[in-house]
Amino acid sequence: MSTPAHGFTEATATGAVLRRNEQCPNDRLREIMAVVVRHLHDAVTELRLTPDEWMFAIDFLTRTGQISGDRRQEFILLSDTLGVSMLVDAINHRKIENATPSTVLGPFYVAGAAALPMGATIARHGRGEPLFVSGRLLGETGEPIEGGELDVWQTSEDGFYDTQDASQPDMNLRGLFRTGADGRFWFRSIVPASYPIPSDGPVGEMLAALHRHPMRPAHIHFILRAAGYESLTTHIFIAGDPYLDSDAVFGVKDALIVPLLTATPAEQVAHGLPAGGKTLAIDFSLQRQPSVTGGHDR
Ligand code: BEZ
Ligand code: FE
Repeated sequence: MSTPAHGFTEATATGAVLRRNEQCPNDRLREIMAVVVRHLHDAVTELRLTPDEWMFAIDFLTRTGQISGDRRQEFILLSDTLGVSMLVDAINHRKIENATPSTVLGPFYVAGAAALPMGATIARHGRGEPLFVSGRLLGETGEPIEGGELDVWQTSEDGFYDTQDASQPDMNLRGLFRTGADGRFWFRSIVPASYPIPSDGPVGEMLAALHRHPMRPAHIHFILRAAGYESLTTHIFIAGDPYLDSDAVFGVKDALIVPLLTATPAEQVAHGLPAGGKTLAIDFSLQRQPSVTGGHDR
């Protein structure tokens, strides 16, 4: 009786692993692992990877895990800087034409911001250039959304989130606002700054080795939630920022860039801004949730 041939060679490697994984009873896991193994083997083969290079990659990933914890997620940063986060987002949020586009959540979101009355300021640290932010929360056909929630967060004037900066009060530059019947929102803050993503770990090393800067253009984060509509995680970016074309995490979309304007004297009075105070205005459009009819599509 002949025994099966043994020997894991360059020619048989991929097939051997794919066949072994075929017994997996979970269809999606089997599909994912087949594609990942194929592409990983192809990359190793195409690159003629050396043992030292493979050990370097293993050490890099090990350190990426070791630096991650409750307050830092280096793997998300890796995904962001390799464009994977935005690619997953693009595949899963194919928006209808006039809905506001989504962008990265980022690692600095903190759930549980205080609900504030419309017009309140989210800046409690007493520094920065005063800013008035306003707009409307609309549905995809322009209908105002009543009772929609805006969960807002941003950096200080020197580019730090409260969680990175002991000089800021807890939950500074964060707030939750709820729209009235006309869908309008308005609140006060300060002008955010462009800032570097955390670059003192393996991802920072990677960016430096690739001669890439770690900067993000100045922005304000929003999660918008409303009953009957798809939730939207997005930003508004400030027009003219020098990093709009080279965001370290590829998050910029044209529809999210808005001009930073200097308030007119009438706006200064209306919005409680000093001379030279700034304004930003944007309308957000949410996509309606698919209705559940229970019928069959035929
Ligand atoms: C942020 O905008 O907060 C962010 C997004 C991705 C990576 C790092 C920071
Ligand atoms: Fe940010």
